[in-house]
Amino acid sequence: MLSRDGFALSAAQIPSADTLRHTQLLYGLVRWLCPTVAVEVGAFHGHSSVWIARALQENKSGRLFIIDDFSLGDTYERLWANLGACHVADITTVIRGNSRECPWPPKIDFAFIDGDHSHDGCKADVDKAAALGAQCIVIHDTTGWWGPRRWATEWKYDGWSKVEAIHDSGLTVMMRNQLKPPVRYGQDENPSGMLQSQRAPVQQLPHQPTPIPVSPGLTGAEGTNGLSRRTVPT
Ligand SMILES: C[S@@+](CC[C@H](N)C(=O)[O-])C[C@H]1O[C@@H](n2cnc3c(N)ncnc32)[C@H](O)[C@@H]1O
Repeated sequence: MLSRDGFALSAAQIPSADTLRHTQLLYGLVRWLCPTVAVEVGAFHGHSSVWIARALQENKSGRLFIIDDFSLGDTYERLWANLGACHVADITTVIRGNSRECPWPPKIDFAFIDGDHSHDGCKADVDKAAALGAQCIVIHDTTGWWGPRRWATEWKYDGWSKVEAIHDSGLTVMMRNQLKPPVRYGQDENPSGMLQSQRAPVQQLPHQPTPIPVSPGLTGAEGTNGLSRRTVPT
């Protein structure tokens, strides 16, 4: 694993299709939630991928599956070079194909959706991630792009909570609701209300990774992904 400074330097060289700062939130969420299987739809050069993978690497468990049809430009070789430069290639699998057609891991914990920016494409990716068990789904560009923005505005998912950050190009975080565990600190035992120093171990999300076959020859239809910059609304 690279030193933190070495990683940050390498990651800073990777261009992004749009905004740059969402990576810090992705990194923090993955560090905090400790997913076993993370999926990123839409990697481009890997600007966000390397931060997700780095968080998994620091967690000492988990694998990142990238799904990209490279319709925005054939960045496949560049993506692998950037994953290698950041020393996270060994925990990453790239699935080359359209996210609506290609195989996804059979069970996932965490998803970052930044691929097809049409409304229907965004919705299809989120629905797929939810159906495969994701506990947390992060959607990029929910302010700056018409498709994800309309999806976020019309958002209606029973059993989920969402935080929509209007900042920058917009980022929406969806978390699956779950029953609250019992209170760990009672006022009776600890009248000052201060947290005790004893902490329970971090809990992993509940399942083991399942390897899936990668189809290197699978490519997606080009030009159908709503990503044309000419379609950005004012
Ligand atoms: C906005 S870029 C991703 C940017 C990257 N996540 C970042 O933060 O730097 C969108 C990527 O999604 C890919 N893409 C677009 N439509 C797709 C689809 N239907 N299936 C898979 N990948 C898709 C494009 O090839 C492109 O690499």
